[in-house]
This record gives sequence, C-alpha cells and structure tokens, in this order.
Amino acid sequence: MHDEVGPPGLHPLLGSRWSPTAFDGTHEVSDRDTGSLLEAARWAPSAGNSQPWAFIVGRRGEETHRRLVRHLAGSSARWAPTASLLVANLSHRHVEDTDWDYSEFSLYDLGQAVAHMTLQAQALGLAVRQFRAFDREGVAAEFAIPGHWQVTTTSAIGRAADEDPGRARRTLQDLVWPGT
Ligand SMILES: Cc1cc2nc3c(=O)[nH]c(=O)nc-3n(C[C@H](O)[C@H](O)[C@H](O)COP(=O)(O)O)c2cc1C
Repeated sequence: MHDEVGPPGLHPLLGSRWSPTAFDGTHEVSDRDTGSLLEAARWAPSAGNSQPWAFIVGRRGEETHRRLVRHLAGSSARWAPTASLLVANLSHRHVEDTDWDYSEFSLYDLGQAVAHMTLQAQALGLAVRQFRAFDREGVAAEFAIPGHWQVTTTSAIGRAADEDPGRARRTLQDLVWPGT
C-alpha cells in the first residue's frame, strides 16, 4: 500500500507525474542520476529485444546541450534551455543503406524506453517534458546522425519550477473499446 497521490489507485510515480514548462535553472543533474535515467531506458522491453533507441544527452553548461538548444523551436526555446538535461530521443528506423524497417516497432519501443526514463526521473525527484517542438533535421545534421536513425523527440529533464496546471484526460470508459 502507498499513500494516494493523484487519481485513485495509481502508483504515486504515475499519479504525481506531469510535464512542466518551467525548470529550475540552478539545478544540476549528477552523473549518477544521469546514468540511472539511461539505465531505465536500457531495461525497457522491446520487440525481439531489438532495443532500437539511442540518446543524445546534453547537460546544461556543456557543449552538447548548447548544440541541442540551437535547434529548439520558438515555443520550446522559452522553457527548455533551463532544464538540467536535454535528451534527444533517436529511433533505429531502417537497416543501414536500405528502406527496410530495422524493426516494425522501433517508434513504439523508443516511446516505451522514454516512458521508463520519464518515470525513473520522477523517482529521482525530477520532472520531464517530452516535446516535438524542435528542428529534427537540424539536430540530425548537427550530430551527423545517419539516415537510418530518426531523431524523434526531445526530453527536457530537471527540477520543475512551476505548478501542475491540472491535467485532463478522456474518461476511463472511453478507453475501453465499445462492446468489448
Ligand atoms: C510525443 C510528444 C510530443 C510532445 N510535444 C510537445 C511539444 O512540442 N511542446 C510541448 O510544450 N509539449 C509537448 N508534449 C507534452 C504534452 O503536451 C503533454 O505530455 C500532455 O499535454 C499531457 O500533459 P502531462 O504530461 O502533464 O500529463 C509532447 C508530449 C509527447 C509525448
């Protein structure tokens, strides 16, 4: 049993998670915490254990972070740079030099790895906002990512500096396919 946080019956890590749009610009993530975020992704399940993911990890104050910040869209540039970490999430989409799928589930599996990283962050007292608002092609060119990998999303990770605005969801009934 655990104290109820958020919607009834949810584990507190899930119930208390939300995606901030303001981060504490003084907070720094330790090497140990950065390593545990990557471990969480590493141990995510994937189709055939294909593990079709890779990450570009930029810690605020370091060069990789500056190179990621250059490619933020106007909207994310307002809040993402102060996050302690920016992590570009890459999916292994194709077999090198072909148009064959590396895995039919590479995007699905990347999403699951990022979800694991997100909850690990929550367990460390950090918060994550995953986002699309950046120049994917720009990041791919910046880091010379070959075409069989897709820069998919970025995660801003750090200590939240705003309040949960109150999250909205479809109803539970609406999730269950009608008549099943
Ligand atoms: C794949 C993906 C793309 C997203 N893109 C953006 C984005 O470009 N900009 C943004 O502010 N938030 C983005 N978000 C965050 C969502 O808006 C947010 O997760 C959603 O509103 C639910 O809120 P919650 O995470 O606090 O429950 C994205 C989230 C995901 C999973």
